[in-house]
Amino acid sequence: MTERKRVVVGVAGGIAAYKACTVVRQLAEAGHSVRVVPTESALRFVGAATFEALSGQPVRTGVFEDVDQVPHVRIGQEADLVVVAPATADLLARAVSGRADDLLTATLLTARCPVVFAPAMHTEMWFHPATVQNVETLRRRGNVVLEPASGRLTGSDSGAGRLPEPEEITTLAQLLLDRPDALPFDLSGVKVLVTAGGTREPLDPVRFIGNRSSGKQGYAVARVAAQRGADVTLIAGNTAGLADPAGVNVVHIGSAHQLQDAVSKHAPDAHVLVMAAAVADFRPTHVATSKIKKSHDPNAASAPSIELTRTEDVLAGTVRARADGQLPNMRAIVGFAAETGDANGDVLFHARAKLQRKGCDLLVVNAVGEGKAFEVDNNDGWLLAADGNDVALEHGSKTLMSSRIVDAIAAFLGSRAE
Ligand code: CTP
Repeated sequence: MTERKRVVVGVAGGIAAYKACTVVRQLAEAGHSVRVVPTESALRFVGAATFEALSGQPVRTGVFEDVDQVPHVRIGQEADLVVVAPATADLLARAVSGRADDLLTATLLTARCPVVFAPAMHTEMWFHPATVQNVETLRRRGNVVLEPASGRLTGSDSGAGRLPEPEEITTLAQLLLDRPDALPFDLSGVKVLVTAGGTREPLDPVRFIGNRSSGKQGYAVARVAAQRGADVTLIAGNTAGLADPAGVNVVHIGSAHQLQDAVSKHAPDAHVLVMAAAVADFRPTHVATSKIKKSHDPNAASAPSIELTRTEDVLAGTVRARADGQLPNMRAIVGFAAETGDANGDVLFHARAKLQRKGCDLLVVNAVGEGKAFEVDNNDGWLLAADGNDVALEHGSKTLMSSRIVDAIAAFLGSRAE
């Protein structure tokens, strides 16, 4: 159970206001005390009764209601986190100019906790120089302005400006409650290539050999890096139905070979490679072009055997390509290792050997087995650096762990830049 915190959900007047209901519900279900502060126009999209029922707290828009409780100062002062979802172009402009003509803007002026804006607007508005400048100003002042998602907008048009999925907003809100300084905007201009999820090696048109990777860790690294300003490409294998992270260029692949092709294509541009994918080490040597049928003769010989061939090690291949001078932009290569201890040594013993064998700069190590690491939301582990510097990654959500991993990458890039 997470610690109960006071969260203010500000809602501005855009069609995506209906998605704020899910954000409120998820934060309340996580055990937090949630106070919804909509603007007058937000209430033209969603009624106050809906927000009151979901949050269990009164909903007001103006500064002249409940005056005896001084809400225009108190709500902001007492908050552990303010999340504005959706944040319209108008709301961002009002926040920048320090207006205090309704309860939400007054709350933004009095809040001393982390403030997150989740923008939603039409693409033209998002890219308008006024909005671009407002976003820059808010970020410079220490606010977190999330990258909007791309896709279908109101009506038939599509582009950047969609509200990130409620799940994503809640996840990042929880990250900031756990670690208020988790999302500095410090990776602008850094190109990060992340692989995530499991590969599937086809046997025939309907069958494959796969693995249990959920993709959650790699998606979380991509999400955190993008929200810290990096230009992120995510090469996504099979996942547990994860939605594409907002502001990330997602390339979906199936097999280890396709993953390797995608990495070869995008690596020359990248400054950082994070290999979180669970890449198959073997693939069936022969892929049947039609479905492999079982024999219906009960006396027939035994089941077919599957011959396997080693796949290329993409991580080791990228390390080699960099050493050969083929990847002059690549400044940090991060590998992942899932280890159990055995008679020869413990988890860290095997991990150090793997770091050396693979030749990457950083290695994220997860202890696996007994319900750890695969398909679960919480995790812990270690981060080993090639220079011998090891740190333990405290137990927490995969998003919290990812924020530590991205910290290590940022520190590594910083130490290299000097
Ligand atoms: N990896 C890769 N290409 C492969 C297999 C793995 O790039 N064909 C990468 C993974 O993305 C991960 C790291 O290598 O970053 C994991 O190394 P690996 O040796 O596969 O670890 P394990 O699966 O733990 O295998 P083993 O313990 O058998 O060495």
